[in-house]
Amino acid sequence: MRKDEICFNSKSTFYPVKKIVIVFATFVSLFIISSCARKEEAFIIGVSQCSEDLWRETVNKEILREASFRSNIEVRIKSVKDDSEQQIKDIEQFLSEGIDLLVVAPNEATALTPAVSKVFKSGIPVILLDRRILNDDYTAYVGADNYYLAYQLGLYAAANLNYKGNVIEIRGLRGSTADIERHLGFTKALEQYSDIKIIDEAYCNFLRTNARDAMHTIINNYRDKKVDLVFAMNDQMAMGVNDAYKNYNPFYRPYIIGVDALLGEGGGVEAINNGAIDASFIYPTGGDMVIEVAYKILNGIDFERENILNTGVIDKSNVRVISLQNQQIITQQNNVDVLNSRLKSSLRLYSQQKQFFYLTLTLAIFATIVLSILIKTNRSKNRLNIKLNKQNEDIKKQVEKLQQQKMQLVNLSQELETATQAKLVFFTDISHDFKTPLTLIMGPVEELLTSKNLTPDQYDSLKIVQRNGYKLMGLITQILEFRTYENGKMKLNCSVGALDVFLESINQLFSKFIVQKQIGFTFETDNNNYTIPFDAEKIEKIYFNILSNAFKFVLPGGTIKVNLSQITAGKRQFCKLSVFNSDSYIPKDKVKNIFERFYHMGGKHGSSGIGLALAKSLIQLHGGTIKVESNENEGTTFIVTIPKLEVISSCIKPIEKDAQSEYSKQQIASMDVPLIGEDVLDEQSDHNKPTVLLIEDNADMCNYVKSILSNEYNVVFANNGNEGINKAVKCIPDIVICDIMMPGISGFEVCRMLKTNEITKEIPIIILTAWSMDEQRIKGYESGADAYLSKPFNSDVIKIRIKKLIERQKNINKLLETDGILGEPKKTIADGYKEFIHGFRKYVEENLHEEINVDDIATHMNMSRSKFYRQLKEITDYSPTDLINIVKLRKATHIMINEHKTISEAAFASGFASPSYFTKTFIKFYKQRPSDYIKSRLNVSH
Ligand code: FRU
Repeated sequence: MRKDEICFNSKSTFYPVKKIVIVFATFVSLFIISSCARKEEAFIIGVSQCSEDLWRETVNKEILREASFRSNIEVRIKSVKDDSEQQIKDIEQFLSEGIDLLVVAPNEATALTPAVSKVFKSGIPVILLDRRILNDDYTAYVGADNYYLAYQLGLYAAANLNYKGNVIEIRGLRGSTADIERHLGFTKALEQYSDIKIIDEAYCNFLRTNARDAMHTIINNYRDKKVDLVFAMNDQMAMGVNDAYKNYNPFYRPYIIGVDALLGEGGGVEAINNGAIDASFIYPTGGDMVIEVAYKILNGIDFERENILNTGVIDKSNVRVISLQNQQIITQQNNVDVLNSRLKSSLRLYSQQKQFFYLTLTLAIFATIVLSILIKTNRSKNRLNIKLNKQNEDIKKQVEKLQQQKMQLVNLSQELETATQAKLVFFTDISHDFKTPLTLIMGPVEELLTSKNLTPDQYDSLKIVQRNGYKLMGLITQILEFRTYENGKMKLNCSVGALDVFLESINQLFSKFIVQKQIGFTFETDNNNYTIPFDAEKIEKIYFNILSNAFKFVLPGGTIKVNLSQITAGKRQFCKLSVFNSDSYIPKDKVKNIFERFYHMGGKHGSSGIGLALAKSLIQLHGGTIKVESNENEGTTFIVTIPKLEVISSCIKPIEKDAQSEYSKQQIASMDVPLIGEDVLDEQSDHNKPTVLLIEDNADMCNYVKSILSNEYNVVFANNGNEGINKAVKCIPDIVICDIMMPGISGFEVCRMLKTNEITKEIPIIILTAWSMDEQRIKGYESGADAYLSKPFNSDVIKIRIKKLIERQKNINKLLETDGILGEPKKTIADGYKEFIHGFRKYVEENLHEEINVDDIATHMNMSRSKFYRQLKEITDYSPTDLINIVKLRKATHIMINEHKTISEAAFASGFASPSYFTKTFIKFYKQRPSDYIKSRLNVSH
């Protein structure tokens, strides 16, 4: 029990820990997976800017602000300072980082086109911002139409010049599409006015200082010419132009127009406001538009490929309004930014709280599960402990009970031993008492047997007395010898002789049985010398006992093999004697008991329970052993092993040849029962006598029963169950008398089989046996026996029993006989019953070829179904179907006898489906074949 408890504890501790670890790991994994899943949803947008200035700063701010409104967008910005090579590197860097979309403002179109194309071709969407590349490898464009802007600007300039004057063009970055398109638009507009001349131009990279310096040069170059208007491609360069004029001539400067019109400090609107420049064309930044288009692309929403932003002019006429509006816009934007940053921090806080919440929830669920597992485990542990304690208690009780039972058994075995001893003493005493009267019986019997005046029947009867007297003598001898052994008074009395020759001489006693039963008998020895000292009297008893058993059990035609050999165990040598018979079987559970005194195996042979016990005792006296091996289908072997003694003393007297004792001779005589005569019913049989089939394997018993019954009955014999069943079917006897214990199937089984066979089931059976216990009787009646008689029986009792049973059966049959169809005497039946039988028969005879059912007959006879059955039961035990068949059979016999029709004709005429079914039914009820019946009927009538 301790062990169990330890096992339970270690197991129960390990089990929840393992379970908890699994649950915890699952929760953590789920938590990590869900966190990662949230991050994976964000799109990365790479923004590559070509310059770092106010305009670009404004764009970037707008992009970031707009992106911040959308939860799943992350923006990464890289800017260069008008450096195409560096911008290409930035783009490649983005590519390797794994961006989802590229926004690019290409510095120089020619230089940047391949890098941008590469991104586009790799499947990443590309949005061009404000500047373009040389091919169509982009997804969308966001920005103003530079050509259109510059064209409008040209028209505005011409109007300001009153369509006459000199113009200077300060250009942007050579090779950028903004520069190229603005130049084309501007010149195109001015082409219309021949009095307007673009007298010079300079590339200034969209930079203020470059424009200032370039303007210095131009002013110096055109001292003699009045410059009426300067078009700078952005406001920064326009302010540079103003810078140059401020130094050169504070009283005059031409009309300066820029591009961008950015709001805020340092922007173009402020420059117009403070007079540094005169006008600026709005070049919209559109950062919010960039994110809107990007969002649509990334989320698969329809979008515009060309997103052209509007432009317009700001000059002295509207700069004030614009500035005021700008103030408001800036304030609102600042508010938006503040709100946005608050929102962001709130969102961050919310996200942290959410994560914290999830974590707490996870831990809470985990803790709940752990707790419930622990509670459950604890509960089942407690339950198990209670169960174990209960089991402990039960086991303790059982142990106590077993000890009590053991004590009872010890007491019982002591009592049994005492009883056995008492039994032995009693048997010994009674054997002594039997011996004298038995001797006094046997002497006169033997004397009578020598008389010549005996009739054969008298001789046979005396022989039976002699044989059974020998049998009793043998039993008495065994009991007395066993008692001597038990008292320790039996001694070995060895003489030297040839054991093999001695055994062979005993075999001779059985030669008659070998021939009678057609036994395949062999006796084999190895080539060793068996001239050794042994107690001949005891060895004879041992061998005779075992060998006579083999002859009792072997079936006719069976085999008995005796083998004598020498074996060596350790340093000692032994004689091994084995006796095999092919037909007996001792079940495994009985093998260990068969050598115990008074043990009954259930069979009738050797039923004193002394023979084998005595044999074993005698073997033990020799220092030997005996064992038995038995297989259901192979047979049984008794193996005796006794030490092979050495011839050491000359004082041991030699064994006389043919020294078999009187014991063996008497016993063999007791077995020597003459064969019973021809038992099949033959021509000699008296057909007027009823036939008795006796199934019995004891020939003396057969002879005895025959002597009692042969005056009144034909007696047929079968010496085992199977033969009995075959003969019953063949002869259809009037009664069967059957023993219970026989070789092969038992009498109970025979009874069951006869009673379930259609042909034999009506034959009365008497079980005749030495067993007289109520259990055996019950078993007999259960198997269908009609009577049970125990041996010894009174001959008058058996005669009257047989007579009455046969009569009863005949009465049943006669009860159904007709009023004259067969011309046989009728039984006197009560008038009511006669009427019933008559009505029944009439209906059947009128409907021989119909399917008859009981309800129809009952209706026809004006009876309720239940009354019909009740009356039927009162008259006979036959079922309605049996009765219908009996009526049909009578009709058939009538046709065969009176109309001289064949069996087949009669069968069909009386409504039987086939002659074979007719024959089967006939045998069932008439106990003979139709042909025999007809023969006997015709003999009677002739
Ligand atoms: C800013 C800028 C603007 C100009 C634009 C042309 O970098 O120079 O001032 O309008 O680029 O692409």
